[in-house]
Amino acid sequence: MKITKAVIPAAGLGTRILPATKAMPKEMYPIVDKPAIQYIVEEAVRSGITDILMIINRGKSIIEDHFDRNPELELALEKSLKTEILESIKPISSMANIYFLRQKETKGLGHAIKCARSFVGNEPFAVLYGDDIIISEKPVCLQLIEAYEKFGLGVVGAKEVPEKNIGKYGSLKLKHIENNHYMCTDMIEKPTPDKVISLFSIMGRCILPPEIFNILDITPPGVGNEIQLTDAMKVLSQRNGMIAVDFIGKRYDIGNKLEIVKAAVELALRHQEIGEDFKKYLLNELNI
Ligand code: UTP
Repeated sequence: MKITKAVIPAAGLGTRILPATKAMPKEMYPIVDKPAIQYIVEEAVRSGITDILMIINRGKSIIEDHFDRNPELELALEKSLKTEILESIKPISSMANIYFLRQKETKGLGHAIKCARSFVGNEPFAVLYGDDIIISEKPVCLQLIEAYEKFGLGVVGAKEVPEKNIGKYGSLKLKHIENNHYMCTDMIEKPTPDKVISLFSIMGRCILPPEIFNILDITPPGVGNEIQLTDAMKVLSQRNGMIAVDFIGKRYDIGNKLEIVKAAVELALRHQEIGEDFKKYLLNELNI
């Protein structure tokens, strides 16, 4: 079955980058000239996704406004003949069918995904974490969709992380299949050092079968007293196996100060309008 639906959970509290996120959702953090979440929606659209559900919460309606039209602004830009700018904002509201749903309590990523049940129905779907920008030639969501089409199993995007950081992520039990594809048969969220299975971790993207909802129904709160998506995927991986794709792309966590700056530098260097000037500025600042 072709995957056309995606869920973007964006209802986290963003406590790691306070005070920036006191009034503004971290997903709206501007990286050069676009909010972080727009890069994520564009990745989904480039992967063939046509319908997107964003899980938001109180205080995040600015995300809805961003993906809505703004006729007054469009008219003003048209009148002042700012055609190029007009062309950059118009497609934002028509890239895909974008729906919004509120997670009424911040009970964890697993709980957020559970809220997507009636939107998803009985189809496999993509999950793109609302605070993970991944820069790549071929969209990472598409890399995962292709693995789903090939193996017919749930898929997680994976990357190796330094040993000192594995306790902040999920740790995967993997066996190499071919190229950058692995069979995953177990996983654990935020392991203590004695529970680490491998340094491969889930990174911001997955493809899930609708079976995940029945598993989430009986998944008790885990680490941090939150319903963890990893705990539900653990059941799925033990039951059917899941595919882990060591994807080709650079991932930046927009909930982390240093990574926000790194993402901004990379995207500024690649930017058509300011890339060259920014590079000169950086070299000059660094005396290179
Ligand atoms: P994170 O744990 O990275 O987000 O969740 P957070 O809770 O905002 O992080 P802190 O407070 O800085 O530590 C991963 C993804 O799951 C979403 C987040 O918005 C993020 O995209 N999420 C998390 C929800 O939608 N609902 C939740 O209850 C928790």
